[in-house]
Amino acid sequence: MAGAVPKSRRVSSIFRPGLFKDKVAIVTGGGTGIGKAITQELLHLGCKVMIASRNLERLEQAAEEMRSGIPQDSPAQIEHVECNIRKEQQVKTLISSTLAKFGKLDYLVNNGGGQFPGPAASFSLKGWNAVIETNLTGTFLCCREAYNQWMADHGGVILNIIADMWKGFPSMSHTGAARAGVDNLTKSLALEWAANGVRVNSVAPGSSIYSETAAANYGDMKIFEGAIPYIPAKRLGKTEEVSAAVCFLLSPAAAYISGETLKVDGAASLYRSLLNIPEHNKIPAFSWDIDETDPTKSKL
Ligand SMILES: NC(=O)c1ccc[n+]([C@@H]2O[C@H](COP(=O)([O-])OP(=O)(O)OC[C@H]3O[C@@H](n4cnc5c(N)ncnc54)[C@H](OP(=O)(O)O)[C@@H]3O)[C@@H](O)[C@H]2O)c1
Repeated sequence: MAGAVPKSRRVSSIFRPGLFKDKVAIVTGGGTGIGKAITQELLHLGCKVMIASRNLERLEQAAEEMRSGIPQDSPAQIEHVECNIRKEQQVKTLISSTLAKFGKLDYLVNNGGGQFPGPAASFSLKGWNAVIETNLTGTFLCCREAYNQWMADHGGVILNIIADMWKGFPSMSHTGAARAGVDNLTKSLALEWAANGVRVNSVAPGSSIYSETAAANYGDMKIFEGAIPYIPAKRLGKTEEVSAAVCFLLSPAAAYISGETLKVDGAASLYRSLLNIPEHNKIPAFSWDIDETDPTKSKL
């Protein structure tokens, strides 16, 4: 049903045409939201892209839609493969099938991820593990396989999408812990793999990058609109604003940048926390003048 394929969005990249000609990229979660914008911009710039995630039907539709937007004279190509990044064998197959299809791998964009909101005290071990396995372990597996199967011998660039967890991540503590882990992993791998010609960087979007799928994940648009007072830019971010940062870090313009995380958050990480802490007196001051009859109160 060719008529059922939605029209691919027109891309207007800031980067020069053909920048990624003859390059091959994997974008996990490349069929929706931020990952889709990254895929569209890479294709626009001539790249061959493998998109990968769990929902095969949605992935197929996205690949077909984006393929329909590639001009006939462009070297760009898009393929898709079903992959749950939590499953080691599926990650191995993602990398090997990309190499089989395109013959090389220049860029790995670890964008696939997800979480659910809630207070830390309510998280079951299963829920906690699921978020850590997706966002931290899944990213590690993709990095390791890309390196072992190709980049150790040929170099490459790895780009991890993380999150604004710089002041903790209340109500998303599992993903905050996982993303802080990836921030540190980025630095370790940048050092361990530098001598193999591999650069490793991260992009940290604010919790404010609107896309239909991201809004659907949290039930509605309110979680995004409610964040605006906490963003110095006083607006939500756009998926293409994250994509531009990713394309810069993949490009030769960033040849001397590795082990770094670039925040794309309208300065939100420097500003106010979304968590409201009520007035309380549950944390008494430490003092040498402690009232022995009531150790929670100082004499002063
Ligand atoms: N939007 C924001 O404000 C924001 C802020 C900070 C960080 N981020 C992060 O940016 C990334 C993209 O998010 P988004 O906003 O574009 O939301 P999204 O559209 O829901 O994207 C998440 C993508 O990850 C894929 N995915 C989830 N679990 C996966 C798994 N186990 N294996 C493989 N793929 C998996 C999903 O596809 P399937 O369901 O098909 O697997 C989906 O395509 C995520 O890591 C997100 O946490 C987003």
